[in-house]
Amino acid sequence: MVAGRRFPVEAAHDYCYLHPMTIKIAPSILSADFACLGEEVAAITKAGADYVHVDVMDGHFVPNLTIGPAVVAALKPHTHLPLDVHLMISALDLVPEFARAGADIITVHAEATPHLDRAVAQIKALGKKAGVSICPATHESALDYVLNEVDLVLVMTVNPGFGGQSFLKSQLPKIRALREAITRTGRDIRLEVDGGINATTAREVVAAGADMLVAGSAVFTGSRADYAKNIEVLRG
Ligand code: DX5
Ligand code: ZN
Repeated sequence: MVAGRRFPVEAAHDYCYLHPMTIKIAPSILSADFACLGEEVAAITKAGADYVHVDVMDGHFVPNLTIGPAVVAALKPHTHLPLDVHLMISALDLVPEFARAGADIITVHAEATPHLDRAVAQIKALGKKAGVSICPATHESALDYVLNEVDLVLVMTVNPGFGGQSFLKSQLPKIRALREAITRTGRDIRLEVDGGINATTAREVVAAGADMLVAGSAVFTGSRADYAKNIEVLRG
């Protein structure tokens, strides 16, 4: 038994107990009031968020259309937090534009391109943190050959496209498998989870090994005075 552990590894089910992690919260502005996005971003910054999660959708990769680089650039002065830009788009030509606009992390979907390795290299060459994401139906092995290159892995726990959907429990084994794979690399890679995160599901994904939680509807609910409480509840 390792000093300081009360239980042998086999008996412990609480992931956090064995691997203390700081849980980071990334509110998704998809659920914010689009008529005053700057104020909403300032409000979550003041409320204790760790990142600002920006959902970019193109109407092709997902059946919804949201925002582009101009909006990312407009939001930048409203927060000192890193902008975590989640690209749900099939054509990656705009990656340099998002980098110029002030994205700090740029995440692309494995399903969006046959050239995932090239996309990751491009993001890093632009001086940004590189993330890769997979949809619920995609196996974690899709990331095998890029894991050593990325800064972040994003597991979708809903089918991407819309806020306010229900969490897919089927993704929990994938989160566990990816946590193990990340540990094996020995690298500092964030394991982010996105979709249907609330106080209950936050506990489940953290127990499975996630350390960065995206939440839209669970944060942007009530008035702005509630955001700090909404964020804190997710930290468990
Ligand atoms: C879904 C987006 C998510 C979404 C999360 O395609 O990537 O970031 O806004 O929203 P909730 O937390 O409401 O499921
Ligand atoms: Zn997202």
